[in-house]
Amino acid sequence: MKAIVYTGPNTVALFERPKPTIQDPTDAVVRLLHASICGTDLHILKGDVPNIKPGRVLGHEGVGIVEELGSAVHSVQIGDRVLISCMTSCGACRFCQKGIASHCETGGWVLGNHADGTQAEYVRVPHATLSLHSLPEAISSHDALAVSDAFPTGLECGVLSANVQPGGSVVIVGAGPVGMAALLTARLYTPSLIVMVDLDHGRLTTARKLGAHATVDSSAPDAQQQLMGLTDGLGFDSVIEAVGIPATFQLCQEIIGVGGRIANVGVHGTKVDLHLERLWDRNISIHMSLVNATTTPRLLRLVESGALDAGSLVTHHFPCDEANRAFETFQAASQHQALKVAIDF
Ligand SMILES: NC(=O)c1ccc[n+]([C@@H]2O[C@H](COP(=O)([O-])OP(=O)(O)OC[C@H]3O[C@@H](n4cnc5c(N)ncnc54)[C@H](O)[C@@H]3O)[C@@H](O)[C@H]2O)c1
Ligand SMILES: [Zn+2]
Ligand SMILES: [Zn+2]
Repeated sequence: MKAIVYTGPNTVALFERPKPTIQDPTDAVVRLLHASICGTDLHILKGDVPNIKPGRVLGHEGVGIVEELGSAVHSVQIGDRVLISCMTSCGACRFCQKGIASHCETGGWVLGNHADGTQAEYVRVPHATLSLHSLPEAISSHDALAVSDAFPTGLECGVLSANVQPGGSVVIVGAGPVGMAALLTARLYTPSLIVMVDLDHGRLTTARKLGAHATVDSSAPDAQQQLMGLTDGLGFDSVIEAVGIPATFQLCQEIIGVGGRIANVGVHGTKVDLHLERLWDRNISIHMSLVNATTTPRLLRLVESGALDAGSLVTHHFPCDEANRAFETFQAASQHQALKVAIDF
């Protein structure tokens, strides 16, 4: 089979690899229709995830057809069109039982990390019962793709953690696919104000099209004043950080209102300051989490009913033979006005 392989700092290449087979009764083998590239794959290319060695097939997002099933998997059938979740979970260990599937003792982020991933013609999916979701006919494979990771992350780590409420005010810092998914799922709760913050004007324009009431360029010298002005100086009820750098978490601390919640979604690679000397008496809370993807069935129902336009986040498709072009496009997302980039098999 053809597979997109991490070959060392900043490089991927298309290789011929043996087709995976069932190793455990809880496995499935899925033939991919589409896989997508995630910001996390770019972190891998930069060498930020050192446990991933050259030779690994990348990818933890995808849609495909069930090709083979282990004897213990009864939730899907051979031939079913399925969404592959970014999270693998057993459902039985102590963390799964606590609802923290992302810390499953024999799962978590496995695909494209501890095992070969979805950017190939076939992938072996461990713990298939909870990691695969059958897709109804009404959901196209294109539309489902952003539900592997971006939507559960935006909803769980962003909107739910930040306690978005009807009539409340929300600011989302970072208008990448995860920030956009937070925007679209925040709208389901009817807050009265949603503001998106980014440096990329193309993404801010898209955010307004997707329903943001206002946008702010965080490089503007008065960005903080503009944001406070939008809330009449009160600060926001819900603040979602979807970038993952010190400057943006700092901004979140400056614009949180009394009684509000900050939800950190971004993956941080460097030390970030927490200003307790300013925040201790603000009656706020700060939440940070790795996505559990336990909201995936609910998200799929929302896509099926038409309440959620998940397809709007997938902007580009490339055949797998053009894997390098797909990665280059996603790396220069701003130039190409790209959000999620899909690879077709
Ligand atoms: N917690 C989790 O489980 C989880 C899961 C998936 C992704 N993530 C993380 O979420 C974050 C967002 O993911 P994504 O795929 O949308 O990433 P992305 O890189 O596509 O988007 C990040 C956005 O931040 C913007 N940005 C950069 N610097 C900025 C600044 N100073 N001010 C405002 N905006 C700025 C960029 O222009 C970009 O639009 C990443 O850190 C990713 O690793 C976390
Ligand atoms: Zn991802
Ligand atoms: Zn588990």
